Amino acid sequence: EKGGYDYFMLKEIAEQPKAVADTLLGRIDAGGSLTLDEVRMSASELREVDKVVIVACGTAFHAGLIAKYAIEHWTRIPCEVELASEFRYRDPILGARSLVIAISQSGETMDTLMALRHAREQGSKVLAICNTNGSTIPRESDAVLYTHAGPEVAVASTKAFLTQLVACYLVALYLGQVRGTKWGDEISAVIRDLSQISGEVERVLETMEPVRELARSLADKKTVLFLGRHVGYPVALEGALKLKELAYMHAEGFAAGELKHGPIALIEPDLPVVVVVPSPRGRSVLHDKIVSNIQEIRARGARTIVIAEEGDEAVVPYADHLVRIPATPTLLQPLVATVPLQVFACELATARGNEVDQPRNLAKSVTVE
Ligand code: F6R
Repeated sequence: EKGGYDYFMLKEIAEQPKAVADTLLGRIDAGGSLTLDEVRMSASELREVDKVVIVACGTAFHAGLIAKYAIEHWTRIPCEVELASEFRYRDPILGARSLVIAISQSGETMDTLMALRHAREQGSKVLAICNTNGSTIPRESDAVLYTHAGPEVAVASTKAFLTQLVACYLVALYLGQVRGTKWGDEISAVIRDLSQISGEVERVLETMEPVRELARSLADKKTVLFLGRHVGYPVALEGALKLKELAYMHAEGFAAGELKHGPIALIEPDLPVVVVVPSPRGRSVLHDKIVSNIQEIRARGARTIVIAEEGDEAVVPYADHLVRIPATPTLLQPLVATVPLQVFACELATARGNEVDQPRNLAKSVTVE
């Protein structure tokens, strides 16, 4: 069943191009527009939405954090993202015009389920983004957008995460398309890029041997830090989570802009720091800022592992290890930038003799609090 791979996780990482393509299938029409009847909201209902609230746990929460950048950019609707376990014990302010999106691979996560029940009690519409057909979360939601990742067996989420991102982009672009924003041309262009993205994920997978080698060389490290900006920040959080759960190493993700507000005190000689670099095209300000962040940490002895777009030459002098990813629109970059971090964590776990598919203390589906 592992299809020739040693672990389900390796198989599921390799299946990502197909999972991404399957999640897009049938949702982009011949004219390059989105058809998402599954959302089950009329154009006028969609135009009335005045707030989007995303609730999720763990890796699905990281997908939600990325979705916020996309939703606010393409739709100009305010979007909040919250851990389901926090949301449900506050008194969140929701109403009939709030759209709540519950993201869950399993569809059975207790906190996410409770959060969506709470939202529906307030009269909000709930859209589930889920990978498991007929599970509890979609059954209790008003509508569901299924991710078509196929069964995910390894405890650590990989292909489910990428397909959650795709589903979130689809929702963001669809809302933008229906409501009509000044980003109309950009939305059409991004839909085209999205339809090609599975090939880009495939290309990343073909170049992962140096990442594996690097991971093996770091097997005796105690800590790895991850830095990112913009959508690279949640990618950094996801890289750190993968490393914690699989390699049992201390790992933390930070927004690079926060370095001077504390985390830079952690930098010491030879500390591995993974930096996710935004595209130098598009938001070049962000790119330049992160290049100076890399310089700052390297000047303090950090061993920099830089994930940057092909053709980005500005990072070369400051990268002890350089991992290239294909150029994508800024907001789509997490689809290609996360893959090396998954491979990195998986290989480190193996090098440390850990059980990759079944990390200690973890369960695939958390149906208790
Ligand atoms: C991490 C991981 C968990 C899940 C979280 C939510 O690799 O798998 O953090 O993402 O438990 O699970 P679902 O998506 O099933 O609600």
